[in-house]
Amino acid sequence: MMELNVYDTAEDLAGSAAARIAELVDGAEDRFSLGLAGGSTPRATYVALRDLSIDWSGVDIWLSDERWVPPDHERSNGRMAAETLTDHIAARFHRPPYGGSMMADESAPAYEATLESVFAGRPPDLVLLGMGEDAHTASLFPGSPALEERGRIYVANTIPETGEQRLTATYPLLWSARRLIVLTAGESKAPALRDAFDGVPNPIGQIDEGDAEVEWHVDRAAASLLS
Ligand code: 6PG
Repeated sequence: MMELNVYDTAEDLAGSAAARIAELVDGAEDRFSLGLAGGSTPRATYVALRDLSIDWSGVDIWLSDERWVPPDHERSNGRMAAETLTDHIAARFHRPPYGGSMMADESAPAYEATLESVFAGRPPDLVLLGMGEDAHTASLFPGSPALEERGRIYVANTIPETGEQRLTATYPLLWSARRLIVLTAGESKAPALRDAFDGVPNPIGQIDEGDAEVEWHVDRAAASLLS
């Protein structure tokens, strides 16, 4: 199932997406796993979320992708998540290991083991995703090796254009989730969003090929090219 929610502004998007996430977290029987998107779009949603009255005690938070930078680096998704949300709530926050001579392709299997323990054989409950102008999601970039991964749930990946190292959830993980919520705002994302909804093969368009329910939460600018 694919559901599209369009909001007049990015602020409306942030507030409504936070309320939707809170509803899902609060509706959980006991444990709840929440994968956070990186980048800049989700910041406002995370700030709105931390101010809502939610029982975070049974929630495990993880990262749908991470840049291969030190944990306190300004480009770190984990740092962004901590500053906007996880430092302010009682949920457990699991970040990929980083340090010393560790390479990204050593951190990925270690984090994969952490996630297997967090999921404990259950589907991930909710994974938040963003979308790049090139229609990438998480760190599943067009033309990158991780797009083809079907055996592992989390891997190191390389951005073809720049050689930048990333860590990312793979399609098997995203497809196994109960629900995916995509947060997208801004006119620059309109062509990729149109392509995704028109069935043009691209990384974000493939997220609905599994069992997960997919909800899009976008602003009017990002939706401006949808027919
Ligand atoms: C990252 C991401 C990535 C992000 C998109 C959109 O590490 O960059 O997780 O998938 O969601 O690039 O980024 P913006 O929200 O900054 O446009």
